[in-house]
Amino acid sequence: MSLESEILRLKEEKHAVLLAHNYQRPEVQDLADFVGDSLYLSRTAVQDRRPVIVFAGVRFMAETAKILNPEKTVLLPDLAAGCGLADSITAEQLRGWKADHPGAVVVAYVNTSAEVKAESDYCCTSSNAIRIVRSIPAEKEILFLPDVFLGEYVRKETGRRMHLWVGDCPVHARMRPETLEAARAAHPGAPVIAHPECGCSTAALPHVDRILSTDGMVRFARETTAPEVLVATEVGILHPMRRANPRTRFTPISEGAVCPYMKEIGLEDLRDSLAFGQFRIDVPSETLLRARRSLERMIAA
Ligand code: 13P
Ligand code: SF4
Repeated sequence: MSLESEILRLKEEKHAVLLAHNYQRPEVQDLADFVGDSLYLSRTAVQDRRPVIVFAGVRFMAETAKILNPEKTVLLPDLAAGCGLADSITAEQLRGWKADHPGAVVVAYVNTSAEVKAESDYCCTSSNAIRIVRSIPAEKEILFLPDVFLGEYVRKETGRRMHLWVGDCPVHARMRPETLEAARAAHPGAPVIAHPECGCSTAALPHVDRILSTDGMVRFARETTAPEVLVATEVGILHPMRRANPRTRFTPISEGAVCPYMKEIGLEDLRDSLAFGQFRIDVPSETLLRARRSLERMIAA
């Protein structure tokens, strides 16, 4: 029996749903029940009725699924699948920051640990950050963390008084305005779409046609009639984009934009995860209850 058939058989046998992020390896995406961005996968984790969730993504995504579904078993097939951005702030650092700004509202990007979420008022993803910030009363001071590029973009779009934590994603921060300039010069006339975590997303805003979450990029791919599109994000996104639209050429502005954490999970890890129930993600109940409040606001927005 092939590895793929074994995974599909085990998935049925264990009543498991397989969720995969848009940056996962193509062969993992192709076996998943649902593929999407952070917000879509969080909502799907709640809506799907199967008792076991196998999360092909990174740790904060599996933790988010667990916090929203404490009664389900949530498995992350490889515990090395972390996130450099989530590591850029600890709960202790956040408590210190809050102490310096009493009364401020804390908005945490979903790329954070469960402990940081428990210290936050709202969570958001790249697809609803602007909506969430706009929903906060205008007189409130906002602490936005941990991604400084997403924060700058949201601040620009909403005109809100926001303090930004200076964290970044090691993969996206490397995409600088110069990286984008070189790609535009080599592919004149091609529209540019960028993820808001990119180091070029705010400084090079006039040269970016759309700032989008990863699912926003797949929707853009489905609708575009352009012969070529320049894509500023992790290269895993090219698989669902090319599948959505085989006619357009999707060119990454940086071939080297590969997130090592997102590539940890392979087919053997998926098989072992289903066969042996590994690796269970659990969140201490007090942290879970506090983090849940901010995550519920995120999936409702
Ligand atoms: P999306 O929510 O846009 O999929 O982004 C998740 C992520 O980790 C980007 O680096
Ligand atoms: Fe984290 Fe960056 Fe990888 Fe996304 S691309 S999972 S933000 S390290």
